[in-house]
Amino acid sequence: MAFDREMKKFYTDQLEQIREGSLYKQERKIMSPQYADIDVEYPNGVRSEGIVNICSNNYLGMSNHPDVITAARDILTTRGYGMSSVRFICGTQDIHVELENKVSLFLGMDDTILYSSAFDANLGVFEALLDEDCAIFTDALNHASIIDGTRLCKAKKIRYANNDMDDLQLKLEEERDYKVKLIVTDGVFSMDGTVAKVDKICELAKMYKALVMVDDSHATGFMGKTGRGTHELMNVMGEVDLISTTFGKALGGASGGCISGRQEIIDILRQRSRPYLFSNSISPVVVGGVLKVMEMIMHSSERKDKLDKNTEFWKSGLQEAGFILTPTQSPIVPVMLFNAKLSQDFSRTLYEEGVYATGFFYPVVPKGKARIRTQISAAHEKHHLEKALEAFVKVGKKYGILGKSREEIIDMYPISDKL
Ligand SMILES: Cc1ncc(COP(=O)(O)O)c(C=O)c1O
Repeated sequence: MAFDREMKKFYTDQLEQIREGSLYKQERKIMSPQYADIDVEYPNGVRSEGIVNICSNNYLGMSNHPDVITAARDILTTRGYGMSSVRFICGTQDIHVELENKVSLFLGMDDTILYSSAFDANLGVFEALLDEDCAIFTDALNHASIIDGTRLCKAKKIRYANNDMDDLQLKLEEERDYKVKLIVTDGVFSMDGTVAKVDKICELAKMYKALVMVDDSHATGFMGKTGRGTHELMNVMGEVDLISTTFGKALGGASGGCISGRQEIIDILRQRSRPYLFSNSISPVVVGGVLKVMEMIMHSSERKDKLDKNTEFWKSGLQEAGFILTPTQSPIVPVMLFNAKLSQDFSRTLYEEGVYATGFFYPVVPKGKARIRTQISAAHEKHHLEKALEAFVKVGKKYGILGKSREEIIDMYPISDKL
């Protein structure tokens, strides 16, 4: 056996280091469907029922919607469970094409290509479209999948400061002479809840003849007047060249993702994008569920409107209580705690009060910026939010952080992520 004591030590030392830095992530088991309240089993085996879930990506409450379940079940009966193939061999059903057309219509793009996940979509897009004579301008806070996707591509990578249009312009000016230039940004920055200046990015893209790609995984279905996403919010529908997004959040929360964009670009992706060519087709069950969600959100903005109202209530409640929030513009409402251990302790104590909210710390967020990232859903009723708010205030008081500045909190809880 090659896995000898020395090799084992190589990994156990790293695990020990992670634990020592208070950075070890433990998973709790949900014993019910994903919803506003859930049944949970803690790693120590203790089970609790009716815990308010305030940290899922179930923005529109579709993950457990009865109509979505029925639609998925119907497709299971008529189209089966799995495809056992990639798309171009024998993995394309009529419903896969129907979903691509529906997403294109909703986002206002020419065409759409499905992937097993948005992570895969972002892994597969850059390498297929750009070579060593091209350049990618990428926001410093872009999602890990964009970072990894750009690493797989030979184009020059140029990072600009988060949402800093002066820095982007400076870099576009310095790096004018590439064959194809592509600016890529998250639409909503998932750890901060802030919105990218997609309108300004499109202006700069015109000036410097660059393509624009937006990852709207935390926006599709609920940002903008009719939920199309950040391009709708910023009045630049038709100007963004590529949108990547997920079906794993607002659009039913199962799995799957896509890239929507200019016809020629999508055509090239179908020929060259490796996660599309070499990975299985999305299950018909998931396609059926997402088709239903798309139909529902295209006919009514009721859920998006409820989400907006819930978010406003939650944000103002936390602010009035004296928590430090990021300058969020979305249903992602991060409560800043700075210290990784505090974020874990805070999360555990919230759980004891019947509220499920996970602490985020390095490497998911930068060192010294640990937080509890709360996320609001249309599935929340007022009583869920009131209960969660009450728990936050009680726990905030316990740790003595209400009304305190960042410096005061760090004084009490010095930054502990040491890795
Ligand atoms: C901005 C962003 N892009 C992509 C992804 C990946 O989505 P998926 O779960 O479909 O792989 C996520 C998920 O965390 C995300 O937040």
